[in-house]
Amino acid sequence: MQDHPSLTTRAVVGGKTKSTDCIRAIIGERVEVAEAIRIRRARRVLSDKPLESEKVDALVEAMRLSASCFNNQPWRVTLCMGAEALPAIKTALSKGNVWATRAPLIMVISARPPDDCQLSEKRDYFLFSTGLAVGQMELRATELGLVCHPIAGYDPVKAKQLLGIPEDYIVITFVIIGYPSTDSSFLSDKQKAQELVRPERKPIGENFFLDKWGSPYK
Ligand SMILES: Cc1cc2nc3c(=O)[nH]c(=O)nc-3n(C[C@H](O)[C@H](O)[C@H](O)COP(=O)(O)O)c2cc1C
Repeated sequence: MQDHPSLTTRAVVGGKTKSTDCIRAIIGERVEVAEAIRIRRARRVLSDKPLESEKVDALVEAMRLSASCFNNQPWRVTLCMGAEALPAIKTALSKGNVWATRAPLIMVISARPPDDCQLSEKRDYFLFSTGLAVGQMELRATELGLVCHPIAGYDPVKAKQLLGIPEDYIVITFVIIGYPSTDSSFLSDKQKAQELVRPERKPIGENFFLDKWGSPYK
C-alpha cells in the first residue's frame, strides 16, 4: 500500500530519508487488530482539526466495553474539548508536552481504589482496569486514524482544581487525542527522532519468563 502524503512523517536520519507507517483507517481501510497493535505509536505531531462527534463516541464506547474486575468500571473520564475546559487543561501540561497543546481533545482519566476490587497482597485493581480500558481505546483510535497518546507529564493537582475532580481520586493520565499532522515544529530533536522510529523494547527474556521467575521465555 502506498503512503498517503498527509499521514506520513519523513525526515533524514543517518543520511537516509525515512518515513513512518501510514495510518490506514483514515483513508477508508479497516485495520486488523494485529495491524493496529503494530502501527499504534505514541505520536506527537498533531493537527488541531476538530474531531467528529461519532469518533469521540466510538472512543468512549471502546473504554466502556473494556474488561474490569467484577465489571466495576472504575475509570472516570473528563473529556476536555469545550472552549473553556480545553485551553484551561492545557495549562496543566508539563513543558516537555507542549506538543499536546495542538490537541482538539484531552481526556483526563481518574480513578480511586474503592471503586474497584481490593484483594489480598495489595492487589488494588483500579489502575489496572483503567489502564486496560485506555489500551483498548488506543487500538480503536488507531483504527479510526487518530493519535491517542497517554501521558504522565502534567500537574495533577492543577488538573483536579481546574476540573473539580474530588480529592480522593488519582488523576492517573491525560490522553492526548487528535488527527496526525506533519508539522513537527513543536517537537524537540529527540521527540522528532522518536516520531520516526519506535523506541526500542527490552529483549524478551528480560521481562517474559518461562516456567520460573527469571528464566527467559526466549
Ligand atoms: C503511562 C505513560 C506515560 C507517558 N507519558 C508521556 C509523557 O508525559 N510525554 C510523552 O511525550 N510521552 C509519554 N508517554 C509515551 C511513551 O513515551 C511511549 O509510549 C513510549 O516511548 C513507547 O513508544 P510507542 O508508544 O510509540 O511505542 C507515556 C506513555 C505511557 C503509557
